Amino acid sequence: MTEVSLSQNGAVLTLHTPEGASRFHAIWLRDNAIDGATRDASNGQRLITMADLSLNATVRAAAVEGDTLALTFDPDGHDATYDLGWLAAHAYDQPQAREPGQLADGVEAWDGALNTAVPSGDYAALSSDDAARRDWLEMVRRYGFAKVTNLPVEEGNLYKIVDLFGYVRETNYGRHFEVRTEVNPVNLAFTGLGLQAHTDNPYRDPVPSIQVLSCLDNSATGGENMVVDGYACALRLKAENPAGFDLLAKYTARFSYSGSAGVKLQSRRPMIELDPDGTLRAVRFNSRSIAPLVDIPFEDMEAYYAAYRQLSDIIDDAAMEVVFKLEPGEAFVVDNTRVLHARKGYSGEGSRWLQGCYADKDGVLSTLAALEASA
Ligand code: FE2
Repeated sequence: MTEVSLSQNGAVLTLHTPEGASRFHAIWLRDNAIDGATRDASNGQRLITMADLSLNATVRAAAVEGDTLALTFDPDGHDATYDLGWLAAHAYDQPQAREPGQLADGVEAWDGALNTAVPSGDYAALSSDDAARRDWLEMVRRYGFAKVTNLPVEEGNLYKIVDLFGYVRETNYGRHFEVRTEVNPVNLAFTGLGLQAHTDNPYRDPVPSIQVLSCLDNSATGGENMVVDGYACALRLKAENPAGFDLLAKYTARFSYSGSAGVKLQSRRPMIELDPDGTLRAVRFNSRSIAPLVDIPFEDMEAYYAAYRQLSDIIDDAAMEVVFKLEPGEAFVVDNTRVLHARKGYSGEGSRWLQGCYADKDGVLSTLAALEASA
């Protein structure tokens, strides 16, 4: 049984249920009215602007009828009804977590223990079965990476993966790029050297949020792929050195790339990025493209470097790694705002050929949400 009461001359409405009381502001309720004059019936888009809302909105009359709350507002005299379940799902009068480094819903930090259960999906299933695709996308959201197996071994097969959730993000490296040994490499990724775990292209803003790497040939010795959870590394830094965590989140780093003609990419972003409520949003780490750091006050620079070095050491700790060797017809997707990737060194015997491309994380989350809603 739900009861309703008004206070502050109708500026605040309170719903009373056996579970407790939940307050709503009249202006919030008026703004979220679900009716044909306020929201488009077909796409749900809001039809009024802020200028149509009175900051003095109040509830003149309120009544609960079954599962519905019926309201009349002043000063515009608008009538609106609300589903009580919808209001319960959108209640905001409750404690809200604001812990720096907290993780968003559906996100889980991980370390090398995940080697025993590497997230993976079979392409034949992903491309034909919505439940399989939903489960795989859920793993991408949860862990920030997942493998794909059983792809046709053909050039451009990485586009088939992007088609599962979104669209390619083209860059100056092309619609996709080749990752194999080249003479006179313009970028260290195209040599046989091992690479420290990194996020790609932190010099872009916004950064490419999804990377796909697909294997077409991997007969060289070595060359395993390795991934490290930037969120887990940031949280370990916070546990070991809270002040250092704060410094990497508080000050902007700088990244740049100008390795080819006509390109001069530059960004100014923190290594550890938090949402205003403290939720971990992004980790940027790339020793090859870090630029001179000039946004840290003199007094904090030594401590900043100590925290940066400590984060680097955590990233290099084998206990944080998940390692796998891709076979031809296998690929993996990483959330490049979070998961660092690396390659172990490989020898000149045999060959190694991967193709990579970028895409956008909003496509992953949108496709996943739509699949979850229709399940
Ligand atoms: Fe990379």
